[in-house]
Amino acid sequence: MRVLGIETSCDETGVAVFDTENGLLAHHLFSQIDLHALYGGVVPELASRDHVRKLVPLIRDTLAESGLELTDLDGVAYTAGPGLVGALLVGAGVARSVAWSLGVPAVGVHHMEGHLLAPLLEPEAQERLKPPFVALLVSGGHTQLIHVRGIGDYELLGDTLDDAAGEAFDKTAKLMGLPYPGGPLLAQLALEGTAGRFKFTRPMTDRPGLQFSFSGLKTQVLMAWQQSDQTAQTQRDIARGFEEAVVDTLAMKCERALDAADCDTLVVAGGVGANRNLRARLQQLMSERDGQVHFPRPAFCTDNGAMIAYAGALRLLAGQRQGPEITVQPRWDMASLPPLSKLTSENAGSLT
Ligand code: KG4
Ligand code: ZN
Repeated sequence: MRVLGIETSCDETGVAVFDTENGLLAHHLFSQIDLHALYGGVVPELASRDHVRKLVPLIRDTLAESGLELTDLDGVAYTAGPGLVGALLVGAGVARSVAWSLGVPAVGVHHMEGHLLAPLLEPEAQERLKPPFVALLVSGGHTQLIHVRGIGDYELLGDTLDDAAGEAFDKTAKLMGLPYPGGPLLAQLALEGTAGRFKFTRPMTDRPGLQFSFSGLKTQVLMAWQQSDQTAQTQRDIARGFEEAVVDTLAMKCERALDAADCDTLVVAGGVGANRNLRARLQQLMSERDGQVHFPRPAFCTDNGAMIAYAGALRLLAGQRQGPEITVQPRWDMASLPPLSKLTSENAGSLT
């Protein structure tokens, strides 16, 4: 089955074609960073308008690279939420129209399920990575620990009470004067920072539980920055101290979640999953526990169409279909998704 995947939940237009027999055929991404940089953050209306401009040309480019015609597609998957309502509607409208004109099924994908399944885009992971496992989803909008009992069968173990991890990276970068989007830049600076010169707290690790809170950490950085000499080296050292606090906190909570769910496999996905120190730390943790850790390749940690094409292909194969109406869900609880095993048994008679 060849599935076109469309991602437009925020400020990246992502398109991909995934073939359930031959894997990922092509993927293209257009980032709107330059468009929003002027305003220091994503402007929803500008995001929607740019998706309108870029989506159809990206679909053409992606199909050309995969060597397919539109009529070779067997299904269309699109991000139906969570995300910015206008941006989501652009992707949903185009996806539904393409599916309708071709007479093929369409399916709306949960953006975070796309992130969660992104490690499975690597063929070797498909052999080794099977539920149950614990997933750490760390993006600009989410910081969640999820017990994955099966594909589509998700139990939320922990969430953030305020800022998401990526949001904390972005806001901390901004308050030290770094341009938008600061998260990856801050991580870059941290690589050259002196470990231990600035020590920040590991929020909410002094009590049991799997909740996160990153907004206090941001305030600590602000105080340290304002009281410092504000040299380039100090900026790197503060970035290092901040990153260490976030990485330590995430690692401690992952350990607790693995114990609580009695799992020895960890999946890390979402934009912050591209962070080099986080990857190294969690790799070390899982080798000490004799377990496995899986990450998407860095390009598929941040938003992309490939993860949506893949998650959609699994759901379409299991028989999930979307009605002809164009609907999106800007807020959407992952635990409300239908488990794949349930879909497969319901559709057992009609699947070929
Ligand atoms: O998953 P994503 O592309 O979009 C959302 O669904 O939110 O994640 C974007 C977030 C941003 O907050 C960005 O600052 C953060 O991921 N990010 C990073 C790194 N690369 C992206 N944070 C820390 N270190 C990185 N290397
Ligand atoms: Zn995302």
